[in-house]
Parts: sequence; structure tokens; C-alpha cells
Amino acid sequence: MDGIPYDLIIAHAEVVTAADRFRADIGIRDGKIAALGHDLGPATRTVDATGLLALPGGVDAHCHLDQPQEVGRMADDFESGSRSAACGGTTTLIPFAAQARGQSLRAAVEDYHRRAAGKSCLDYAFHLIVTDPTPAVLDEELPELIRAGYTSFKVYMTYDDLKLNDRQILDVLSVARDHGALVMVHAENADCISWLTDRLVAQGRTEPRYHAVSRPSAVEREATHRAITFSELVDVPILIVHVSGAEAIEQIRWAHGRGLRIYAETCPQYLYLTAQDLDLEGYEGAKLVCSPPPRDPDNQEAVWRALSGNVFSIFSSDHAPYRYDDAEGKKPGGHTCHFQHIPNGIPGLETRMPLLFSGGVGGGRISIHQFVDLTATQPAKLYGLYPRKGSIVVGGDADIALWDPALRVTIRNADLHHDVDYTPYEGMAVTGWPVMTFSRGRLVSRHREFLGSAGAGEFMPCGTPMQHA
Ligand code: URP
Ligand code: ZN
Ligand code: ZN
Repeated sequence: MDGIPYDLIIAHAEVVTAADRFRADIGIRDGKIAALGHDLGPATRTVDATGLLALPGGVDAHCHLDQPQEVGRMADDFESGSRSAACGGTTTLIPFAAQARGQSLRAAVEDYHRRAAGKSCLDYAFHLIVTDPTPAVLDEELPELIRAGYTSFKVYMTYDDLKLNDRQILDVLSVARDHGALVMVHAENADCISWLTDRLVAQGRTEPRYHAVSRPSAVEREATHRAITFSELVDVPILIVHVSGAEAIEQIRWAHGRGLRIYAETCPQYLYLTAQDLDLEGYEGAKLVCSPPPRDPDNQEAVWRALSGNVFSIFSSDHAPYRYDDAEGKKPGGHTCHFQHIPNGIPGLETRMPLLFSGGVGGGRISIHQFVDLTATQPAKLYGLYPRKGSIVVGGDADIALWDPALRVTIRNADLHHDVDYTPYEGMAVTGWPVMTFSRGRLVSRHREFLGSAGAGEFMPCGTPMQHA
């Protein structure tokens, strides 16, 4: 130390955490929050936060970056993805290291480290995607990887190249129980989807909007109930990802009523988009093809109610970035195609927090503490990064977003920082946006301009998910 106690003081901040709201100066030293108080003394740099809210930087615990695909290519790597996230108030990313069938999980993790290293401007951890649970994976690789800090994994009940059968899911859950990991479940019934898809295609119904028809709420409801049953049988918590509406929510409430530890996530697309949006002129609906698909206004309302009633633990983007006008994106090989061949996923890293802040806090549906909990604190806790990430606490990383709660922004893709050529939220007006975002005390964005540097982010091994602790 050179005699100046702080590298940075964020002065006169209205600090909001998942539990508290108080006026304080935040003293930052060596990337950590060193003090919360008043008249902290000199600092190398002081930022006046009068009139702004100091919230924990967001933890986006479900995003896909540079994830290798069988067909096509994701538009965002760790550099563009983290840049975009930072400009929307997020400071921690947890994307997926996906195992290809026949590949060892360790090899998938090593490959993914190579993709991230030197690129991310934000700190990151990895979930694993388990597609090939061989005895070696179950008995050796997963336990070793859990010990090394990869403490969460996703299993799929759908997608031919990713899905596990029921018995395989039970095996993976059993490893999670024995070794203290959290399993995320993509809950849609694969056989129902393929049966419905074949019928639609035979009838010549192949436009993008039939994607939603091929994956109705019932297929999500059934798979959600089945996953809950597996969790009960194995006696281990699970987290149901990207819940889209009332029917799956009903199953989760039912599980909670039975005292089961079922965690759930939802995403902006289920609050702001509907299946109608897939019915755009020509092929444009391909932009909104994601799974589960967005539903209808009644389901949007059910998701809002479940957010306000604490049915959901976390709110993530499920950023899965494909360019629209691109042979490696939504137009495979450069052509429009039948709905079942359109790469699934939409972009959303940068808009995740402003959309929830505006409609949720501004709209009076959730408190600002719930907002912090859903977007930062609970994801950090559930995935073993708390209290380093997810709150504003002495000793924690100085990951802080200064929000102007009254700033009105019209979302335009031209102003976003991802490498995708569209946003599903084009023209939508929101109120509230971070005007400065700090990652370990470094200013990474200011007035929606990116100021961070590629490679400044660090990989973080995750600890035991909090519900196991
Ligand atoms: O459509 C989606 N959600 N694509 C991303 C992969 C996934 O299932 O989360
Ligand atoms: Zn999924
Ligand atoms: Zn996803």
C-alpha cells in the first residue's frame, strides 16, 4: 500500500442487496470491497454515486458462449459475450462446457478453457453438460471435476445430440447427491416433440412458427414432473432451467408443497415474448426460435406471479447467440429451412437485467431486493460462488453496477455489444439501466460504452452449491 488506503471509493451510494438498503461509501482495495461506511478517507480515485443505486453486479448463470455445435456456430465468444454482459450490469458469467458423445468430460473442460482464456473481460465459471454418462464419466471424471470446482451440470431431456434417457439422468443425479453438485434439467419430452414435429412436417407446416406448436406446454409439464420425480427418488435437489409458463410452474409449486427441494429458473423471453412473435413476415420468426418456446400473455402473467411469489430462485438470459442472416446461424447453409432445423436460441446477455428491472421493479411486481436476489445473490449461492460474488459485502469482489433507476432506454440492436445481428427486444422501451459497471473494482462500462479489456476476467472454481452446504 502506498499510504492511500483505497484504490477507489464509490461515494454517496444507495447500496441495495438482497436483504438491505442503506446509504454508504464503498471503499475498494485490490479488487475487493474493503469497507462500507462514511468518510473513509483518501482514495486514488473517487466516483460520486449521488442519485444512483449501487447493486451487486449480475451473475448470469445460464448463457452459451462459443459452445461447439454439430451444425452452425454461435456468434458470441467470451470476448463479445462478456463485453455485452458488462454493458448490461452483469459481472459474472457461468456458461457451459459441453461434452460431445464419445468425448471425455475432462477434454471438454480443457477445450472450453482454451476458448475462454485471454478473452473474457468478466470473471467466469463453467457448468458441465453431460451427454455421455459412461461408467468412467460417472465414477471417475465427474467426482474429480466436482472436487476441482465444476460443481453444477446440465442434463437434457430433449435434443437428439444431447438428451439422456431416464436411467442415465438418475445415474447423474446420484453422482450429484454423493459428491455435492447441482444438476440443472432441460425439461421437455423428446419423443412427444419428435412425434408432433413429424406430423406437422407431413402436413407441410414447416414455417418457424410451428416450432412453438411442436413444443406445447404439455411436453414441458410432463418432463418437469418427471424430473421432479427423479429428484425425489434420488433425494437430491435439482434446478429446472428456462421455465416458460403456468403448467411447469404448477408442477414446481406442487413439488414445493411436498417439501421437495426443486429450484427453478426463468428468463426474459418468457416475460416479454409470445409464440405469436414467431409468426413474423417471411422467415423472420426464426429469430425467436428457442426452447422451450415463448407462450402467450396468460403464461407471461403466470411467470410474473411466480417471480413475485418466490417460486423462481434465479433469472438468467439463456443467451444462445446465432446470427439471423448467416449460413452458420439461423439460415443453415445460407438458406431458410424447416422449423426443426433452425438453431435454437436467442441473445439476451445485455438486456437481461434492464428488462427485469423495468418490468419487475419499475412495474411494481417484485421488490428491488428480489431483483438483486434473482439476478445476482441466489445464482452465486446456488452455484457455489457466494460470498465472493453476488452481494455487496466486505471481503467480496468489488463487482458493482451503479444504476440510474430513471434512465429511459429504447433497446436497439445497434447499441448492444454482442456479435448478433438482431435483438428480440428491438424498439422496446425500458426504464433503468446501469450507468457504470465495475468488475473487481475496474470500470468495465460507462454510459453503455465498453471500457473493459479482453482477458481481464478470471476463471473461478465453484464451491459446493449452497443447498448442499
Ligand atoms: O433454445 C435454447 N434455449 N437454446 C439454448 C440451449 C438450451 O437448451 O438452453
Ligand atoms: Zn436448455
Ligand atoms: Zn441454455
